[in-house]
Amino acid sequence: MAPAGTTMQSVLESAAAQARAIELSWWIFFWACLAVYVLVMIAVGGAFIARRRDGSELDGAYRRARGWVIGGAGATAIILVAFLVVSVITERELNAEVTDALHVAITGQRWWWGIEYLGEESFESVRTANELHLPAGVPVKIDLQSRDVIHSFWVPNLHGKMDLIPGTTNTMLIHGTRPGVYRGQCAEFCGIQHAHMGMLVIVHPAEEFEAWLDAQRRPAMEPRTALESAGREAFTRRQCVVCHTVRGTGAFGNTGPDLTHFGSRRTIGAATLPNTRGHLAGWVADPHSIKPGVLMPPSELPADELQAITAWLESLK
Ligand code: CUA
Repeated sequence: MAPAGTTMQSVLESAAAQARAIELSWWIFFWACLAVYVLVMIAVGGAFIARRRDGSELDGAYRRARGWVIGGAGATAIILVAFLVVSVITERELNAEVTDALHVAITGQRWWWGIEYLGEESFESVRTANELHLPAGVPVKIDLQSRDVIHSFWVPNLHGKMDLIPGTTNTMLIHGTRPGVYRGQCAEFCGIQHAHMGMLVIVHPAEEFEAWLDAQRRPAMEPRTALESAGREAFTRRQCVVCHTVRGTGAFGNTGPDLTHFGSRRTIGAATLPNTRGHLAGWVADPHSIKPGVLMPPSELPADELQAITAWLESLK
């Protein structure tokens, strides 16, 4: 699911320096291969016509054929070397050193993305899930880790794919980003809900990003209505707290996503559904009806508690 305003998920609509390098090399390969195909077809057609015209002069035909084969082999070698040069230049662009980078850690797990902004003091640590916010144009260094199986981080508009491997950290560098909303997808089969392991990357103008980050640093908002208060009370009394953190309450589980600013997210279930109260109520009551096999158990809540919990979670902007 991609909310309105999301740029088409495509390697051919690049919005960062790395994706631009990949797109450029893609187009060079595309046009070179197309030109070779057209030339080969013309040569095949020419050969048929020539064969018909002077079928008797075998000697001459062989001489001409030898010339074409040698020329073709030479051209192939030159094109392959040119492709190699393009690949090396692209690779260097992808791994260009960045300084003063924003440092983010992303942890892949079945079937969502944990996001942590590093370099923050622990008391104001910023954790979120499934929606990565970045400042436009600022270089970002992303550490990729996995908590269970191998996943692959792929936001085609920004960069190529990179695996998240248990026990090791891979680092991805992105710079020169353009404001916009981009969809990402886990690109390594990781189990039953692999296809529903999506994410959004929201690239803000720099000052808008700072405001977002400031808001995320704060603990959860206080309830403003009786329903929201009842929701917080039910959430912290029920099993929700075993897996989820909501800073400012007694909930500090870390198996599931941090929900401190849940209401500020556009989607739920790793970019699976829009973040609305209706969808959220369906999710809390029975996540398996939306993502069968997901690790969150169904919750057998009385209707009034379900109402209250969803109202409170949606208020956590
Ligand atoms: Cu995670 Cu596929």
